[in-house]
Amino acid sequence: MIILSIDTSCDDTCIAILKIEKKKIKVLSNIISSQVDIHKKYGGVYPSLAKREHEKNLVPVLKQALQKAQNKKKFKKPDLIAVTIGPGLDPCLWVGLNFAKSLSLVWDIPLVPVNHIEGHIFANFLSKINLNFQKLLPAICLIVSGGHTQLILIKKIGNYKIIGETRDDAAGECFDKTARILGLAYPGGPSIAQEAEKLLISDSQIAIKLPRPMIYSKDYDFSFSGLKTAVLYDYKKRSKKIRTSQKYISAMAKEIQQTIIDVLIKKTIKAAKDYKIKNIILGGGVIANKELQKQFKEKIKKEIPNSLLLIPDSNLCTDNAAMIGIAGYLNKNKALKDAQKIKVNSNLRI
Ligand code: KG4
Ligand code: ZN
Repeated sequence: MIILSIDTSCDDTCIAILKIEKKKIKVLSNIISSQVDIHKKYGGVYPSLAKREHEKNLVPVLKQALQKAQNKKKFKKPDLIAVTIGPGLDPCLWVGLNFAKSLSLVWDIPLVPVNHIEGHIFANFLSKINLNFQKLLPAICLIVSGGHTQLILIKKIGNYKIIGETRDDAAGECFDKTARILGLAYPGGPSIAQEAEKLLISDSQIAIKLPRPMIYSKDYDFSFSGLKTAVLYDYKKRSKKIRTSQKYISAMAKEIQQTIIDVLIKKTIKAAKDYKIKNIILGGGVIANKELQKQFKEKIKKEIPNSLLLIPDSNLCTDNAAMIGIAGYLNKNKALKDAQKIKVNSNLRI
C-alpha cells in the first residue's frame, strides 16, 4: 500500500510517501519545507504568514516528494491520503486539508483524517521497531512539542487517556519564549541547547537556580509559564554587561534546559511507577534535545531498569509527514471516499 501524507499544522510544510508491505514500513520520501527563516524575526510563528507560505510551498513540496519516491519511474497513484486535521493553527490546517481533498478528488482515492499528536506517538514506528510497536503496549507516552506537553496512557492503539498535561505553556513554548528573552534565535529549543553546550566548568561561578514548577505535585500536570517569568526576573536584575555576556547566556540556557528536563523526567517516571506500566514512549520536537534523551536513558536505567524507552530518530521528533502517514495507515478504517465532509479542529484532543 502506498500512502501520501500531509502535515501543515504549524510552520513546516510536510509531505511524505510511505510504502507499507507485509507489516514493513518504507519511507520513500519525507520532505519538510521549513519556514523558520520567515518566523525568526517575530520570535515565534505568525499564523497568517505560515498559511501563506503553506499555500506557496505545497505544490513544490508535493513535486519533490513524488520525484524522490518514484525514483524517476512512471507515476503510480497512492492508495490512500492521510492529512493532519488538528491540533494546530486553524488557517494552516485548512490549507493542508483542502490540498488533500483536491488530490483525493482528482486521484479518486480515500482520505483519512489524522490527529497530529497520534502522529508524534507513531513516529516511533518509523525507527527500528516498525509495526512490532503494538507488542510494547500498554505504555506511558510523553509528547512534548511547541504546542503540547502531555502524558498519555496508551492501552492499545486508538485507546488513549491523557493523564497529565500542561496547565499553561507547553515546554517547547517555554524554550521558545525564554530564548527570546536571552536574544537567541527561534526556534528556542535548539538555540538554548547549543548555548548550554558552550558552558565551561570554569563558568559555573554564575550561579542561577530556577524553580522546578509542579515537580512534586501529586498529579501528572505541568506548568511552564512561571519558569519564563523567573527567567525574565533574573535577566532584568543583572547589569547589561552581565546579561549580554556569553557566560551568563550559557549558564542561563543550561539551567532552563535542566529545569525542563528535571520536570519532564520526574513526572514521566512517576506516571510509569504509579500506573505500573513498563514501557515509555517519547515524541514531539522537544524530544530531539540530546541532553534530555541522555538523562532520560540514565534515569530510567537507574529507577525502572526493566523498562524499555522508545525515542524516535531526531528528524522524526520534530514535525514531519511520515509520522502522519503511519498514523493514517493505522486509522485506515476511518478513511472516507467522499472527503468533502472532513473538517479541521485546531483543538483536537487525542
Ligand atoms: O513537534 P514540533 O516540531 O512542532 C509542534 O508540533 O509544536 O515541536 C517544535 C518545538 C519548538 O518549541 C522547538 O523549540 C522545540 O520543539 N525543539 C526543541 C529542540 N528541537 C526542537 N527543544 C529542545 N531541544 C531541541 N533540540
Ligand atoms: Zn508537532
